[in-house]
Amino acid sequence: MKGRIAVLLSGRGSNFRALYKATKEGKIPAEIVLVITDKKDAPGAESAREYGIETLYFRRKDYPDRVSFDMAIADAIEERNIDLICLAGYMRILTPEFVRRFKGRIMNIHPALLPAFPGLHAQKQAIDYGVRYSGATVHFVDEGVDSGPIILQAVVPVYQDDTEETLAERILKEEHRIYPEAVRLFFEGRLEIRGRKVFIREG
Ligand code: GRF
Repeated sequence: MKGRIAVLLSGRGSNFRALYKATKEGKIPAEIVLVITDKKDAPGAESAREYGIETLYFRRKDYPDRVSFDMAIADAIEERNIDLICLAGYMRILTPEFVRRFKGRIMNIHPALLPAFPGLHAQKQAIDYGVRYSGATVHFVDEGVDSGPIILQAVVPVYQDDTEETLAERILKEEHRIYPEAVRLFFEGRLEIRGRKVFIREG
């Protein structure tokens, strides 16, 4: 039976589309059956609707606090028997309550070589710091910010004349390559979390 993925997004959705493409091309033995957004008109959500994927919009204002908001989303995910939750430009920090409900089953992509430059504007942080290399990281989500066990990373050079945009673009190409790859490994049952490390079994 095919695995079932939910994607959470807030914006552009290019990583979501890369994942979708990989599932459709049979590169991932799973399908994206649910997209959840906290921004009604997010371009990523528009794409999901066009693809005919069930797309749910949750408005933070409709809930008294972060936990009840997250629990409503978690309920929707559980009702649909989701195996893996992929964060793809989801601009909210998940509550510990949410993370605990799906332990080891939430992935995120971050545009830097973690643990360097967590949080927002990772590309700008890399440029301002003066590093020669940055990149992308796919990791499991724990209760911290961008701090969970690392699954895959890709390195890109940082050039002296880079702007936030040119670096972001170079990193994004790698994101679109390693995120589907990490999801594939998950559904092939090849990822094992031991403490803060992820071990990848031979295929
Ligand atoms: C990506 O750079 C990702 O690493 C970060 O947010 C951005 C989302 O881009 N978490 P997109 O919405 O997938 O195009």
